[in-house]
Amino acid sequence: MTDITWLGHAAFLVEGTSTSILIDPFLSGNPSANELPEGVRPDVIAVTHGHQDHFGDCLELARRFDSTVVAVAELGAYCESQGLTKVVRLNIGGAADIDGVRLHCVPAVHSSSVGPNRDYAGAPCGFVIAIDDLTIYHAGDTDVFTDMSLIGRRFDIDLALLPIGGTFTMDPDAALMALELLRPAEVTAMHFDTFPPIRQDVGAFADAVAKQGLADYRPMDQGTRTTLSGGGRT
Ligand code: NI
Ligand code: MN
Repeated sequence: MTDITWLGHAAFLVEGTSTSILIDPFLSGNPSANELPEGVRPDVIAVTHGHQDHFGDCLELARRFDSTVVAVAELGAYCESQGLTKVVRLNIGGAADIDGVRLHCVPAVHSSSVGPNRDYAGAPCGFVIAIDDLTIYHAGDTDVFTDMSLIGRRFDIDLALLPIGGTFTMDPDAALMALELLRPAEVTAMHFDTFPPIRQDVGAFADAVAKQGLADYRPMDQGTRTTLSGGGRT
């Protein structure tokens, strides 16, 4: 059984049978943030890029829970420079196998820097996560790009987590185009409404997804754990 909890913005907790993964843990200072559920100790913290609204509490949480951080090489090196020892550095096209979970690092069209001085943090990325019998794509911050069709060809995506806020990422119209390329079974929108510049009508997006028959829209209430049915599509 695999559970997923949206913690606000781009932060998600995925709890598999044996391994839990926290993605883009921006909790402190996030106006829409939710606390980690009681008793959860993430085994893995995966960070798509260095921007504070994604990197967030990575260092503090990794120290507190002795989590393994997965990030692009330069961002991983930054984590090590801040004292973390359990860091898996990878890069676009690579994958990491940790505790029975596979995290593929895939492209994202965005920028990346980390820390108060905006230090170089390597390329931004997305992750395709194979956990239990599910494949979850977290796009990170990105515009739509045609190579999403390769991601869709290579992976049978059960659930795509796509930004729709605009301004810093693709907007709902571009996210519909992304779905044409990715062809996931389900989609959930993220990275909207947290701040005024990324306000969007998520209901209208969900309606458009359904109307165009691109995927099943999976609504998520922040902080509410939901179970993803395993086994994918038939
Ligand atoms: Ni960003
Ligand atoms: Mn962002």
